[in-house]
Amino acid sequence: MATAAAHRTAGTQRYDGREAAEGEQDAYQRAFDAAVAADERIEPRDWMPEAYRATLVRQIAQHAHSEIIGMQPEANWITRAPSLRRKAILMAKVQDEAGHGLYLYSAAETLGTGREELLDKLHTGRQKYSSIFNYPTLTWADVGAIGWLVDGAAITNQVPLCRCSYGPYARAMVRVCKEESFHQRQGYELLLALSRGTPEQHAMAQDAVDRWWWPSLMMFGPPDDESAHSAQSMAWKIKRHSNDELRQRFVDICVPQAESLGLTLPDPDLKWNEDRGQHDFGAIDWSEFKEVLKGNGPCNEQRITQRTRAHEEGAWVREAAAAHAAKHSRENPESRESRETGAQQA
Ligand SMILES: [Fe+2]
Ligand SMILES: [Fe+2]
Repeated sequence: MATAAAHRTAGTQRYDGREAAEGEQDAYQRAFDAAVAADERIEPRDWMPEAYRATLVRQIAQHAHSEIIGMQPEANWITRAPSLRRKAILMAKVQDEAGHGLYLYSAAETLGTGREELLDKLHTGRQKYSSIFNYPTLTWADVGAIGWLVDGAAITNQVPLCRCSYGPYARAMVRVCKEESFHQRQGYELLLALSRGTPEQHAMAQDAVDRWWWPSLMMFGPPDDESAHSAQSMAWKIKRHSNDELRQRFVDICVPQAESLGLTLPDPDLKWNEDRGQHDFGAIDWSEFKEVLKGNGPCNEQRITQRTRAHEEGAWVREAAAAHAAKHSRENPESRESRETGAQQA
């Protein structure tokens, strides 16, 4: 318990702006290590190693960028949704993804890196987003396949992040995962409707699953022995399971779901392994993954062009919001309190 208290004290001192003196650094590090070992949460004001901070900023930024770039492939179908019900569901889902991006940019801000800087890095290709969003959405069934497989893979990845050692990230994940689980179910339900529909609809659903299956498996990242950041992230308890463990879990979840959907997964090597109590599956084409990562996927350029244009076209909204906030705080120094009262009256 003494170490945990020291950890908090260390954090407070750092927050007060006093640089750790020689010798103190070790004590801070020991307190941080003890807090992580005891499964305590690291909070924004606590002392943390700079490498831990940088790793979190990189991961949270990449996650935030994926949420907002991920709006594009599905938004492509909003105007062509086959019914009002489907359109309403899809719009709600795409809006949820915008919300996820916002929570995550806010989580990164607690580490001292602003949204403006992160967006600039996204737009200039210095930070990445999930490669899965560089594939095109060719038919309406892709909306179902993305919900079932892409959101499904995202949940498998993100549920353990609810226990991540960094408090703001872990707490953001709780709500994100609840919404992702709705996304996954709407995708499954959409595919089920198509699978049980006309032969053409069934074929369209199967084609979408054929195209999205392998990229979904790649979402878990490179195999464990090639994953550069994995071991350190697991030691810091940012990550709780390895890429290969999560990928295996996802495959085992999807196989019975595909059966109930009446669809097949495009892998002739996929079969139950009695000894392991898990499914064996075929080799992943990592050369495709690396090409998409390098920027040579089908939609890399289109995604960034569209994002940058949206950002530029939205500049007046940000300026207006900032001007309004400045005016409000000049007119009413207790603006926060008055906003809250105003909200109650509204
Ligand atoms: Fe999301
Ligand atoms: Fe989602």
